[in-house]
Amino acid sequence: MDWGMKNRMARLFQKDGRTMFLPIDHGYFQGPTRRLEKPGETAAPLLPYADGLFVTRGVLRNAIDPACEVPVILRVSGGTSVIGADLANEEITTDIEEVIRLNAAAVGVSVFVGTDYERQSLMNLAKMVNACERYGIPVMAVTAVGKELEKRDARYLALCCRIAAELGARVVKTYWCENFEKVVGGCPVPVIMAGGPKVNDRGVMEFVRDGMDRGACGVNLGRNIWQHEFPLAMMKALSAIIHADASVDEALAIFTAVKNDSGS
Ligand code: 5RP
Repeated sequence: MDWGMKNRMARLFQKDGRTMFLPIDHGYFQGPTRRLEKPGETAAPLLPYADGLFVTRGVLRNAIDPACEVPVILRVSGGTSVIGADLANEEITTDIEEVIRLNAAAVGVSVFVGTDYERQSLMNLAKMVNACERYGIPVMAVTAVGKELEKRDARYLALCCRIAAELGARVVKTYWCENFEKVVGGCPVPVIMAGGPKVNDRGVMEFVRDGMDRGACGVNLGRNIWQHEFPLAMMKALSAIIHADASVDEALAIFTAVKNDSGS
């Protein structure tokens, strides 16, 4: 690994080897998602607690302060929508020159294993790896399932993560599932967890705690934070699980304290 790649990875992962990415990329296929209508305003209070910001170039250019010190993971796959024929039919949207111009610390590409667009999405990943490795920029693979949420078991997710790592992803983002150690155990690069649709507070803390105990290196958690009534409290509580090894009860206590203290 060259210095540039090492430096970017070190900016994305803290000294404890863990990370908490804040994804606000949902608009790229969902449009103005609830509480992400003004993405800059949603992100601003949470960014001081984030180790990375996962965002498209459009939101980055128009809604994020260029003085932002949080490393950016640029979403570079897309071209589909929730009302279109198939979410998996993505292509690369953002070329390597733009990635460099926007000073991204990494890029994110979705792969849709087991769909009609499996090969296309895996080749999107491989081609982006080829381009980014030339410049020491890590690629994060996003193991997406489209609308078929039932696919999220350890066997399937382990398959997706391993394939993504074999194609050159430096980080893989996937969903938490039962027996998550099987997903992490078969993947030679750091695995981080996405959140999915909003669940109750204890439920989020429990799956994040469980995933970390089973080898995850962090989270890329969106809706369960910024669609929450108290996003800052959620952010700080989850950060305590990731970076301070807080238990579920400790994290819930932090959540309650921050909520009562600031009302945010
Ligand atoms: C959307 C994404 C999101 O970054 C990812 O799903 C995390 O967000 P959430 O926790 O809301 O699921 O890749 O395609």
